[in-house]
Amino acid sequence: MTGEITVSLPTANDTWDLGRRIAAAIRPGDVVVLTGPLGAGKTVLAQGIGAGLGVLSGVISPTFVLARVHREGRLPFVHVDAYRLAGFAELDDLDLDSDVADSVTVIEWGEGLADRLASEHLHVLIDRSGLDERRTAVLHANGAGWLRRLDEINR
Ligand SMILES: Nc1ncnc2c1ncn2[C@@H]1O[C@H](COP(=O)(O)OP(=O)(O)OP(=O)(O)O)[C@@H](O)[C@H]1O
Ligand SMILES: [Mg+2]
Repeated sequence: MTGEITVSLPTANDTWDLGRRIAAAIRPGDVVVLTGPLGAGKTVLAQGIGAGLGVLSGVISPTFVLARVHREGRLPFVHVDAYRLAGFAELDDLDLDSDVADSVTVIEWGEGLADRLASEHLHVLIDRSGLDERRTAVLHANGAGWLRRLDEINR
């Protein structure tokens, strides 16, 4: 069961706010995958999700740490940069599976990896069209749970 919506993001603040709205709809065990070219705004969106969960600071690009777990919010927030992972073996080495069921897992560049972690997930593809700040996000719901929540996020 899949479906998608497109959201216009004129400024970085709009991207951050979309993250807040995703966070408001999030439940334990959720997996959110963020894809898009370099500098698209994946980390900004992850920061908005973190803020919505009550993680007040420290959500930064996970590029150099691969994965970071923030525990001060309403749910453990696992932030992963899959781009740097050599492959599935390395993802397993991070021991993420043990946490997925009661955490929120947000994976930048996680296409492909997400299916392995959770067949039901929200895929957000961020793209920039021109040279200005404007971005467009396509939110693709995989599974009935996310499909139902798309409207809520789109408000
Ligand atoms: N509409 C917008 N949405 C998101 N970010 C924007 C927007 N307009 C400008 N920006 C700026 O673009 C940059 C996006 O950086 P960010 O680190 O979030 O991208 P990323 O997709 O995570 O990059 P990387 O591929 O390096 O991980 C930020 O400096 C942000 O302020
Ligand atoms: Mg990033």
